[in-house]
Amino acid sequence: MTEAAHGPEGYASSYVAHHVPGEQARLHALEAAFDPATFRVLSRLGLPEDARCLDLGAGAGSVAAWLAAHHPLGQITATDTDTRFLRFPPRTPIRVLRHDAVREDFPPEAFDLVHARALLCHLPQREKLLRRAVDWVRPGGWLVVEDLSVRLADTSPHLVFKKVTRAGEELLATTVGSDLRWADKLAGRFTELDLDDVESSTAPGTVGDRSATDAFWTATFDQAVPALLDKGLLTRQDMAAMRALHRSPDFTDTGISLISVQGRKKAGGAPVSTP
Ligand SMILES: C[S@@+](CC[C@H](N)C(=O)[O-])C[C@H]1O[C@@H](n2cnc3c(N)ncnc32)[C@H](O)[C@@H]1O
Repeated sequence: MTEAAHGPEGYASSYVAHHVPGEQARLHALEAAFDPATFRVLSRLGLPEDARCLDLGAGAGSVAAWLAAHHPLGQITATDTDTRFLRFPPRTPIRVLRHDAVREDFPPEAFDLVHARALLCHLPQREKLLRRAVDWVRPGGWLVVEDLSVRLADTSPHLVFKKVTRAGEELLATTVGSDLRWADKLAGRFTELDLDDVESSTAPGTVGDRSATDAFWTATFDQAVPALLDKGLLTRQDMAAMRALHRSPDFTDTGISLISVQGRKKAGGAPVSTP
C-alpha cells in the first residue's frame, strides 16, 4: 500500500478523507456540481474512440465512467490513493489503480489524455506533479487540469459568507496543504510549460440557489464544521449566522468554483519534469 501525500496532516488523515462518514456522498455532490462543466471540456477535445486516458485522483469515478462510455475502444485508467469508491459495472473497460500521484510514476508519453480534477490544489507537490503529468501525455495529446478556486467569493457582499469561505480555505491549507487559489494561475503555468491550444473556463459555484453546486457547498460546509470549531477558525455564532443566511430565500452568492484548463502537448516536445 502506498502512503498518501502529506500536507501538514495529509489528505488521507483530513476531514475530507475517504473514511470520514459522509465523504462518499460529498464526492457524489462534487460530481453532480461539476461533471457538466468537465464533460463539456472533455467532449470538445475530439479524442478518438480508442484514446488511452488517465484520470488521477479519480475519487468516486464519474469522470472515468464518462471516459469509458465515450471511448469504448480505449483504455481508461482511474487512480487514487484510496480506491474504495471506484466501483464500476462488470466489463466496464476501466483499470482501477491504487497509485500515489506524488510518489509513483507512469511511463513517458503513455496517454492521449491526462486529467485531474480537484486533486492538484490539495497536494503541496502540485508544481512538480504538473510537470510530471505533462511527461505522461503523448505528443499531440491533452492535459486537462481542473481545480477549485475561492477567488470569486472575495467580492462577496455577505460578510459571514466571506468569513466562512476564508475559514474553509485556511482549514484546508493548514490541515491538507491545499491552495484554493493556485487554479487562478493555472492557464499561465500551462503556457509556461510550452503547451499549445491552452484554454481556460470557469464554472461558478453558486450557493443559496438550491443548485447542485449549492448541495456540494452545503455538504462540504457540514463536514468541515467540527474541524472549523476545533481549530478556532469559526465560532458557534458564525455557524448559526451562516446557516440563517443560507436559509434566507434572498441569499445567493458564489463560493467554490471550478477552473478547467486544457493544453495540448507539442509534437516532439522535450520532457519537462527534469529539474
Ligand atoms: C476532492 S477529491 C476529487 C475526486 C475526483 N477527481 C472528482 O473530481 O470527482 C480528491 C481525490 O484525490 C485523491 N488523492 C489525494 N491525494 C492523492 C494522491 N497523492 N494521489 C492520487 N490521488 C490522491 C483523494 O483520495 C480523493 O479521491
